[in-house]
Amino acid sequence: MKNDFWEKLDTSKEEDERLWELYHQNSKITKFDKTISREELDSKTLDLIMSHSYDEYRQTKLSADLSPFTVSLADAMKNRTTARNISPVEISLTDLSTFLFFAYGITRTNKDNNFPHPFRIVPSAGGLYPLEIYFHHNYVQGLDAGLYHYNPTKHQISHLLKGDQTRKIQELLIQPQIAIQSSLIIFITAFFERNSFKYGERGYRFANIEAGHVAQNIALTAQGLGLSTVTIGGYLDRKADDFLRLDGVTSSTLYITAIGKDKE
Ligand SMILES: Cc1cc2nc3c(=O)[nH]c(=O)nc-3n(C[C@H](O)[C@H](O)[C@H](O)COP(=O)(O)O)c2cc1C
Repeated sequence: MKNDFWEKLDTSKEEDERLWELYHQNSKITKFDKTISREELDSKTLDLIMSHSYDEYRQTKLSADLSPFTVSLADAMKNRTTARNISPVEISLTDLSTFLFFAYGITRTNKDNNFPHPFRIVPSAGGLYPLEIYFHHNYVQGLDAGLYHYNPTKHQISHLLKGDQTRKIQELLIQPQIAIQSSLIIFITAFFERNSFKYGERGYRFANIEAGHVAQNIALTAQGLGLSTVTIGGYLDRKADDFLRLDGVTSSTLYITAIGKDKE
């Protein structure tokens, strides 16, 4: 998957222009930081719905069944690589459901404690879960092609864009061929307000860290199901957000994972 633009991309800056340094300093926790009251925390978290709702689109409830892994977790971890030679294969609806559940599914209740929401498969600072999961597929058996959103609370998906959108995905990827070579592409996005009301600047760091947890779970799930992944940071942000109809400010794409069968 060689790509000249990507290989040669140089976004380095002069020392006095490095925004990441400034940002890192400004997102540090100090003992002088203000704290938020329990009441304020509770009322804000209740205001922020747990998942974008796409009720006006066609919904498909996913089954709670999960596809069994064909390898151990230890082997999945040891053998995970970024696949450089994937091709698309058909996957079952249960495999799709398995990917989504292991990416961001709800695993346990919060009824017996002070945390604001039911817990998920991945850790999240303050249990606030700022991420949203979208996916595009062309190869899931029995499911119309297109762009979907996953609602973990209901374990259901909403069909946002009908039909094969591979051409549009190629336009947003730095390595456009990955769009053709994969069965499923998962977009991890963040709704920043869901954690920044509490964590401020640091909330942005947390959202990115949490996207890493989700992406690793997806990669290990792929290994477990005999598939492979390419985790993708090389995409045109504005085009990705346009494709998902995110405004790029309150919500934006953080990470993309392509899933297919490794030919090697
Ligand atoms: C944040 C991040 C962004 C990445 N973006 C891309 C990408 O856009 N395209 C790509 O081919 N690989 C991408 N990779 C994969 C890395 O190239 C790969 O992880 C690295 O070469 C190590 O190889 P391995 O994953 O096989 O162990 C990315 C990895 C990370 C962690």
